[in-house]
Amino acid sequence: MSEERLRIRKVSREKARKRPRDESKLGFGQFFSDHMFLLDYSTEKGWHRPRIEPYHTFSLSPAAMVLHYGQEVFEGLKAYRGENGAIYLFRARDNLARFNRSSKRLCVPEIGVDRVYDGLKKLIALDQKWVPRSPGTSLYIRPTVIATDPFLGVRASSTYLFYIITGPVGAYYPEGFNPVSIYVTDKYVRAVRGGIGEAKTSGNYAASLMGQVEAKSLGYTQVLWLDGIERKWIEEVGTMNIFFLVDDEVITPPLTGSILPGITRDSVLRICRTWGMKVSEKPISIDELIAGIQAGRVKEVFGTGTAAVISPVGIIHSKGKNHQVADGKTGKLSQKLFDYLTGIQVGRVKDPFGWMDRVI
Ligand SMILES: Cc1ncc(COP(=O)(O)O)c(C=O)c1O
Repeated sequence: MSEERLRIRKVSREKARKRPRDESKLGFGQFFSDHMFLLDYSTEKGWHRPRIEPYHTFSLSPAAMVLHYGQEVFEGLKAYRGENGAIYLFRARDNLARFNRSSKRLCVPEIGVDRVYDGLKKLIALDQKWVPRSPGTSLYIRPTVIATDPFLGVRASSTYLFYIITGPVGAYYPEGFNPVSIYVTDKYVRAVRGGIGEAKTSGNYAASLMGQVEAKSLGYTQVLWLDGIERKWIEEVGTMNIFFLVDDEVITPPLTGSILPGITRDSVLRICRTWGMKVSEKPISIDELIAGIQAGRVKEVFGTGTAAVISPVGIIHSKGKNHQVADGKTGKLSQKLFDYLTGIQVGRVKDPFGWMDRVI
């Protein structure tokens, strides 16, 4: 990336966006802050023209390659309002590193992590009043890159637009922790080894829609995804990684190419190891899981992800039957992990890992 200076064009008072006052009604992904960070890419100039501008719509050729061939990568991370009023980012560099790994898989040129991180911090500082203050709320951050060559034909684009938008999001559990019911689909798969499942790119989410619709229509919250080859090995739950507490062992499926390497997944693994727990990244089949539930050996099942942090699973539906995990309530480990991680994120709990970085 060239060493051009970051240009900042602030929104005028008249054009400023309306900020939602009632933080209990924020929901997710509905509100966007005043400014956005942008970068252009061309083969000749590389990444150039770093800038912060008022949030605006794009004008794009209808032939833009992203619209036809899905050459796109994105990230999802959060900034938190600490209990002291300061604003912190959680493992943001790890998200940008994953962004570059996804980009590599999609043949998109990598961004300079330091430059973009610096731009992100300036963007958040400029829009600091958009970082909500109520417990459980945060500022969601969405870095994205799209292929912009106006060209019909399958190849990698030679021009790209990178941007970061942000917006306040509500508490995931406004009424407290609620275990979800999940549905094992034997009809659809999200990803296959050798495909793009380990990249955070739009195609994976498009592939997941039918399964999600099916699960919802049957009254389940999320889909439990099995591997695409044998339809046997558990991979992910909805848009989260999945964990099991079997006897006294914490188990999550290994990263073999079709699973998104979650930042929360990695945080939970590291926390459990520092707590001295037995932790394994190993394959677990749906049959093993159901047998373990029936034998009373599966104590807890939970999903992990930036949006919910920890999402306890109460019921798993497989092959026409509902299976209740233990007593169907939130387990002790799920609750302890949730309290600890969210405690670190708002500065209530000491951060021994160096995950938090103060923005302002
Ligand atoms: C498919 C998928 N799996 C897992 C995750 C969890 O990843 P993270 O913990 O980095 O949010 C996400 C969310 O980003 C996801 O979209």
